[in-house]
Amino acid sequence: MADADGEAIYAASCANCHGLDGTGLAPSLVAFEEELPDFSDCDFAAREPDADWIAVAHEGGPVRGFSEMMPAFRGALTEEQLGRVMGYIRTLCTDQNWPRGELNLPRALLTEKAYPEDEWVVEVGVDLESEGSAMGAYVYEQRFGPRSQIEVVIPYGWRRGGGDEDNHDDHDDAHSTEGASHGIGDLVLAVKHSLYHDLGAGTIVSLMGEVILPTGDQDAGLGAPGTEVEAFLSLGQILPSDAFLQAQAGAAVPLYDGAASEGFGRILVGRTWTEGKWGRAWSPMLEVQAKRDLEGGGGTRIDLVPQVQFSLNTRQHVLANVGLLIPTGAEAGERPPLRLLAYLLLDWFDGGFFEGW
Ligand code: HEC
Repeated sequence: MADADGEAIYAASCANCHGLDGTGLAPSLVAFEEELPDFSDCDFAAREPDADWIAVAHEGGPVRGFSEMMPAFRGALTEEQLGRVMGYIRTLCTDQNWPRGELNLPRALLTEKAYPEDEWVVEVGVDLESEGSAMGAYVYEQRFGPRSQIEVVIPYGWRRGGGDEDNHDDHDDAHSTEGASHGIGDLVLAVKHSLYHDLGAGTIVSLMGEVILPTGDQDAGLGAPGTEVEAFLSLGQILPSDAFLQAQAGAAVPLYDGAASEGFGRILVGRTWTEGKWGRAWSPMLEVQAKRDLEGGGGTRIDLVPQVQFSLNTRQHVLANVGLLIPTGAEAGERPPLRLLAYLLLDWFDGGFFEGW
């Protein structure tokens, strides 16, 4: 089979379970209970990168937390041959509108990625220098259609305004116990749409619009006095040798008086390393963020955010990222505090939180 093309290898090695058309044989025709994936379903297939599928075919299902009913082909087929099989499997989804999973680059702490996602993310940010304030956010993202996604962000903030350091006796919806306040922040509703994607060039570009509603308690420092809208472009670019670049640029415009519109840009480079050949993925990144008032002067504020994203489970759909936000160059006395930033992410399309460990 050394020179056979991908389709011939697939027909000989894979089709007896997955079916020649890739839709998977009916349960009555196979001797196991696991449901077979449908390689012709673009919504499922396009988002899975070749490298993950080659890992599964080479090492068997358990390498990504799947069933051992998916056998390992490492004794029978080389990675190169499996690459050819992927070439065939990729012809089974015929709608090129779906951006490929390779373009789904590691999620940074601040830069919004261009790839539309099905994700739950819990984010936290903790001031390391000031009196003490922390922000958490619950992010829900859901794809619709080949290239679009909606997003809801529910932030939650804690702030210690001096006073009794030991007073943790907070109750649920009140905001203030002596000197400390906490509560819901400003709710964000967003829509993302991918304008352009090309796997060959390794590029994806998306447009995103957000409405930030004044649901947070303004007096407690947890919200703005009115609604704000934001629009930006995001870019994802695959670079050689597992490196990548992502960027985002846009503007935030308050729809109330007394606040200036702000322009912002973010850019990051990173690279992914894998433990062993098929193991845990580590993606260190360096992110730079710049912000500037668009009306009436003021300098540009620049933050550096070194960080590392890593996969937590075998299926690699539960991920974490930890980094530091380091403000630079701001006028003396006004420099915002150093912040610890982190998130925990579940790519829920690939399984529940407790699956695939
Ligand atoms: C003996 C039956 C059988 C054969 C032969 C087989 N598979 Fe599978 N395969 C399965 C089963 C069952 C699953 C689903 C496992 C699960 O969901 O836990 C699976 C899952 C997969 C997946 C994972 C898809 C995902 O969910 O991300 C890939 C990729 C795959 N197979 C590729 C191949 C390739 C390539 C071949 C041939 C070289 C092949 N399989 C041959 C049974 C088989």
